[in-house]
Amino acid sequence: MDAAAVATLAALPDPLAGPDGRPATTPEAWRNVSRPHQLALLEQHVYGRRLPPTVTHVEGEVERGEAALADGVVATRLQARLRIGTGPKSRLIDVLVYLPRRDGPCPVFVGLNFRGNHAEHPDPGIRLSQAWLPNDEKTGIVNNRATEASRGSNSRRFPVESMLARGYGMATACSADIFPDSPEGRGDSVLAAVGRPVTGELPADEPGAIAACAWGLSRILDWLVMLPEVDPTRVIVVGHSRLGKAALWAGACDERFAMVVSNDSGCGGAALERRRVGETVADITKRFPNWFCPAFAGYAGHVEDLPCDAHVLLAMTAPRPLYVASAIEDTGADPEGEFLAAVAAEPAWKLFGLTGLGGVAWPPVNTPVGNHVGYHVRTGKHDLLEYDWLRFADFADRHLPPPGRPASKATGASGR
Ligand code: GCU
Repeated sequence: MDAAAVATLAALPDPLAGPDGRPATTPEAWRNVSRPHQLALLEQHVYGRRLPPTVTHVEGEVERGEAALADGVVATRLQARLRIGTGPKSRLIDVLVYLPRRDGPCPVFVGLNFRGNHAEHPDPGIRLSQAWLPNDEKTGIVNNRATEASRGSNSRRFPVESMLARGYGMATACSADIFPDSPEGRGDSVLAAVGRPVTGELPADEPGAIAACAWGLSRILDWLVMLPEVDPTRVIVVGHSRLGKAALWAGACDERFAMVVSNDSGCGGAALERRRVGETVADITKRFPNWFCPAFAGYAGHVEDLPCDAHVLLAMTAPRPLYVASAIEDTGADPEGEFLAAVAAEPAWKLFGLTGLGGVAWPPVNTPVGNHVGYHVRTGKHDLLEYDWLRFADFADRHLPPPGRPASKATGASGR
């Protein structure tokens, strides 16, 4: 590790500290004192107060059938509409699930998408998204609505056939059903549906779009865990970019997620804010004022005063398995800063006698490393590709084996 990286790590707040500054030295002290304290810092200064769960109603019938996909793969496809809240401000979340056709409950990856479920796969049976979407003629989004032309336009990010072949189900919903991604989106978001303020000066710790998406993932989980085909102890939350930030916060807030995966989540996600490499707190809070709680913008220009940082967010997953993925050309998301945050989160796993990244240096491209914390930096750009998904599956195979089969013992620093 170079001198600059060592200095960065030395300047970080202690992720194990409790309210009196003393670090937890046992799992109990972490669970009862330090973790709640650190989680409260993230709520207060970055993501906003956590919302209580709500009853999520399934609207109408769940559509359940067979879907013939590419390569001769036949899957079970489920589509459900979840209603959040009641009355005119209530919101509908369309959830799409593909499951391998086999006996017994299976592990499932769940994550949000950017452009509607129908954009994730060319399957003609997927309902066209009704959400407000940013116009993009190239991908068939016209007058802020999806058209048939957008079907399958994002499928490189959702390799269903390969993941089903690995034994994993895949569940997704459009983030715009939860919070339309525009500065005016709050009024049409789940936050409005559950009675949060949408106009005027918001409280400093009022949640924004990232927290809304994280909360929405938990509501989707409420429904997923009731499905007989889903193993409720092996649901993995995953997300790319802004939705990777949401996946990390979802995993922090809801320990029912058995594993957490961040892909290229960058600033406000896995990358250390204190490095000020790539997108900074000043940049992100200016460009996306609706993403975080208002207090976060107050750290623009003096991020060293932030009482937490990305390593604290990552530590919230402990002792569950965590995977952080970067892409080498994704300079805006500071790939090395994502790696260093994962390094700095390791003490939380150590409390449980587990190893995180295990002291490795930033690895070469396409070389996954780590034990209970996994990491890779892929060649190429800011994106979520099959290469990434297959590494998530490798990591989940090791750490979330079927009930009754022990997790494989990772031996070296490089677990793969
Ligand atoms: C923008 C934003 C990033 C975000 C990304 C994405 O580039 O600045 O913070 O991760 O969008 O969600 O694709």
